[in-house]
Amino acid sequence: MRTIAIINQKGGCGKTTTAVNLAGRLAADGSRVLVIDLDPQAHATLALGIDPDLVEDNLYDVLADDDGAALDRVILDVGKAIDLAPSGIALSALEQKLAGDHVEARTERLSHALAALPPVYDYALIDCPPNVGLLSFNALRAADEVIVPLEMSIFAVHGVQKVLETIGLLSDRIGYDVEIRLLPTLYDARTRNAREMLMEIRDLFKDLCFSTVIRSSVKVRDAARRGVPVVRFAPSSNAAHDYGSLAFEIQALTARHDSERPAAQRVGFAPTASWPTTAEPVTATEVRSAPGPNGSGGRSGSVVPAR
Ligand SMILES: Nc1ncnc2c1ncn2[C@@H]1O[C@H](COP(=O)(O)OP(=O)(O)OP(=O)(O)O)[C@@H](O)[C@H]1O
Ligand SMILES: [Mg+2]
Repeated sequence: MRTIAIINQKGGCGKTTTAVNLAGRLAADGSRVLVIDLDPQAHATLALGIDPDLVEDNLYDVLADDDGAALDRVILDVGKAIDLAPSGIALSALEQKLAGDHVEARTERLSHALAALPPVYDYALIDCPPNVGLLSFNALRAADEVIVPLEMSIFAVHGVQKVLETIGLLSDRIGYDVEIRLLPTLYDARTRNAREMLMEIRDLFKDLCFSTVIRSSVKVRDAARRGVPVVRFAPSSNAAHDYGSLAFEIQALTARHDSERPAAQRVGFAPTASWPTTAEPVTATEVRSAPGPNGSGGRSGSVVPAR
């Protein structure tokens, strides 16, 4: 099973949308996917058609249980090869509940719960809350890879440095290599600002970026309202296409990883670019050319953000 955490402390950048719609696409392609809703707002739970208020047991009951309550106890089958570990508002009390525990034990709760699952999943996608706290650290600790959705705004670019630093600190502390990639989201090619932001992001972060760009699409919101991934609601929409493109990149990386490592070690994945343990500060860059969305240019060279 490959575990991917979707993290950014900035709110509203497309974390939940990415978790749900990437899950939808991977499942449509034949993978068995577990979505782990680690956000007390329970948006992924809602977007997969489950009312969190009607769920009896959620992730809080697993993560707060000192005896290590089994994760599969709370997992719900939401159809079409997608399972959900649901969230609820109680999850916001987890930090307080575990305050007395040793820091390592507190941050390893999710990874232990995942390790105890029967090996039925190809992917686990973790939707994180918009802050850096115990829940996000649990996600990082459990993850083989991190996707950082990045909407097209100057605030997002500044914020991403914080995410990189946080992941770097954790990686250093646990001596564990988690791989990271940035995913441009909410892209509207009609606006000059979005086109320039995309160029700047690709110029700064180069191979740290996915080739895929997720365009803004009203179908994403419509699908969430109906509680299904967009691939099922509007399979020929731009949004379904873009999440298909993202799934394709991830599948290619998984295949490459599997072919490069002995079977006994196939527990995660190793993407093309290794991630710098300490993020370089972002500085203003020259806008040179205008790459289009989804792989039409602007990527090459170092994986370290340019100075
Ligand atoms: N590609 C897209 N096109 C149109 N709307 C989108 C797209 N991606 C996300 N949205 C919308 O933007 C809003 C924020 O998206 P989402 O909830 O996925 O962000 P988030 O990072 O999970 O937010 P939070 O930090 O609050 O958890 C939602 O209303 C969502 O429907
Ligand atoms: Mg969210």
